Amino acid sequence: MTLEEKIGQLQQISGDFFGDDGSSVTGPLSSYQISKKQLNNVGSVLGISGADNVIKIQKEYLTNNRLHIPLVFMADIIHGYKTIFPIPLALGASWNPELVKKVAAASAAEAAAAGIDVTFSPMADLVRDPRWGRVMESTGEDPYLNGMLAESFVDGYQGELPIDQTHVAATVKHFAAYGAPEAGREYNTVDMSEWRFREQYLPVYQKAVEAKALLVMTSFNILFGVPATGNNHLMRQILRKELGFSGVLISDWNAINEMIDHGVANDASQAAAKAIKAGTDIDMMSFAFLGSLEKLAATNVEIKRLIDESATRVLQLKETLGLFEDPYRGISAEKEAKVVLSKKHLDLAKKAAEESMVLLKNRQHILPVNSEKSIALIGAKADTGDLLGNWSWKGDVSTTQTIRAAMATHFSNLAFENGYSFDPSDNETDLKKKAIALAKKQDVIIYVAGLTASQSGEASSMTDIRLPKMQLDLLTELAKLRKPIVTIVITGRPLDLTVVDQLSDAVLLAWFPGTSGAAAITDILSGLVNPSGKLSMTFPRSVGQVPIYYNHYNTGRPVTTSPSDKDNIYLSKYIDSSNDPLYPFGFGLSYANFTLKGLKLSNKVFGAGETITASVNVKNDSKITGTTTLQWYIHDLTADVVRPIKELKHFQRIQLAAGSEKTAYFKISTQELSYIHSDLTRSSDEGFFNLLVGFSSETQLETTFLFKN
Ligand code: NOJ
Repeated sequence: MTLEEKIGQLQQISGDFFGDDGSSVTGPLSSYQISKKQLNNVGSVLGISGADNVIKIQKEYLTNNRLHIPLVFMADIIHGYKTIFPIPLALGASWNPELVKKVAAASAAEAAAAGIDVTFSPMADLVRDPRWGRVMESTGEDPYLNGMLAESFVDGYQGELPIDQTHVAATVKHFAAYGAPEAGREYNTVDMSEWRFREQYLPVYQKAVEAKALLVMTSFNILFGVPATGNNHLMRQILRKELGFSGVLISDWNAINEMIDHGVANDASQAAAKAIKAGTDIDMMSFAFLGSLEKLAATNVEIKRLIDESATRVLQLKETLGLFEDPYRGISAEKEAKVVLSKKHLDLAKKAAEESMVLLKNRQHILPVNSEKSIALIGAKADTGDLLGNWSWKGDVSTTQTIRAAMATHFSNLAFENGYSFDPSDNETDLKKKAIALAKKQDVIIYVAGLTASQSGEASSMTDIRLPKMQLDLLTELAKLRKPIVTIVITGRPLDLTVVDQLSDAVLLAWFPGTSGAAAITDILSGLVNPSGKLSMTFPRSVGQVPIYYNHYNTGRPVTTSPSDKDNIYLSKYIDSSNDPLYPFGFGLSYANFTLKGLKLSNKVFGAGETITASVNVKNDSKITGTTTLQWYIHDLTADVVRPIKELKHFQRIQLAAGSEKTAYFKISTQELSYIHSDLTRSSDEGFFNLLVGFSSETQLETTFLFKN
């Protein structure tokens, strides 16, 4: 390969460079000043799909590329291709790694059939700030749960290596710590100690890398003062050396050039040098590699060597994808039509939606609703297919079943009013009046509130995380009627639901539930399905509590329940709000009622190489079958550095028939006790630990054990 050909492999361009017929080269070419010859050498493209389209583009490309090295097609398949599954944050609330693996496998099957080779997923960024719109793409705030789910995503997308024609390569993103921008503002500064990074943020990426994800994407943000894309320590030392990542490191969109705005490079050439030295293999859309590497390599042997290294990685990826044997990976329009939106995938989407919805409140068992009741279904959100959520590129909102349509199949006495609108020019008074008139006539009010898809996702940070004022005002009016109110919330991020909680008898958090979401909501409302989701991200009482997360440190002045602290103002607390969230991490109700008793340990003391087995009895104390998630937390009482007040270490989804019970176990080894010390190494120390267990992070039972070497 010539140097130019090798550099071509390191450049990724967007689909706009190819015309609809797959051959002509359009506008962007001139604005980016890339020549036709360079275009014939680029190694990858993003954002193109459809078997016919991909076949055309690949065919044309292969005739123009001297060595006939196939293009690799990449895209953002975040929660499904055409069958849209619940958003990742909702999938997090399923606490079901097996389910997530199936969802990823189905997404991969559809994407692969449509000609996509690589997905830019999973997002392994830990998130603690609902002001940041991209929390929707994460599975939540917990390192352990996120790590398990990141692994499931990778396993589901990739299947066994080498990748077969029904799977795609996974990209772990955004390395690293993109989920912690200051003030939740998109692309903002991230600054945290390396200790904290290694303790809480790194383990999630690590799990995905250990699952053999073939790509990692750099993040836009700085970490330890240096933009990730040019961060040698982060990429060469931590990612490549310590995590042992040997795959392709791709920059995020234009992230190489953005080093100029960050103020660590004078120009594209300097940015390109920094990026490739740090280990970035592919330049997504900044054209810094294409424009500068050849010149840099002429005088710098190290850069010449790094180009070889990076080009080799890209070619290896193509080989693992089987592109050299079959550049089309077996696609055809007929096969694509069979795979996308198949019954199997739609059923899986429904199951995923059912398992990810979280019942937040259910006063006096108002839910499920008897189908004989007359229902006032109120809320514009009930009459729209805007249930897919952001990052559902190929999902079709216009054909997505609405909540109104799905409910009409089960509830015969159902009448609907919009009640509010997302269009500020609509007449609020009129909408409200009609909704109230309807509500007066019916037995139960089902109020569907929420946000639009574009109110979460990239570049959608918010400073106010309440529902829109028009929706809250209407709810206030409806509550005055003193009829039972069930509120369904459609959202891509945790919201401040304080008022909603006060004014509603029941609250069902449906997230953006995807293609089959409306049917899942209906089955939960009617009781055909018993809700089982548990929050994987804390819901604050107000935006002022943010960032708020369950696994925080104690501080030197923690708030306690001790009577002597009652009047002490010098504690770590607010004067206008409690510290507690509205709904804690791990929380979610069921129509069944579960109880816990008899927490026992096999032994109270254990040493290196030994284990302790904890057991507890879980009972379904109700007349209906249900599923709950039992959560085990550990608190390290004294250590070299401060330790979280509790950390999730194990969980199990348990299904119990009415009145039945079962013993659940947790085998504790030193692995569960290890942490990052002040010298940044991981090990476990002797000492006392609390073991806590419950159905949410507000645990019910606890006991103590000793680890002694
Ligand atoms: C920018 C986003 O940050 C990233 O997540 C995405 O994969 C790329 N754009 C490509 O669309």
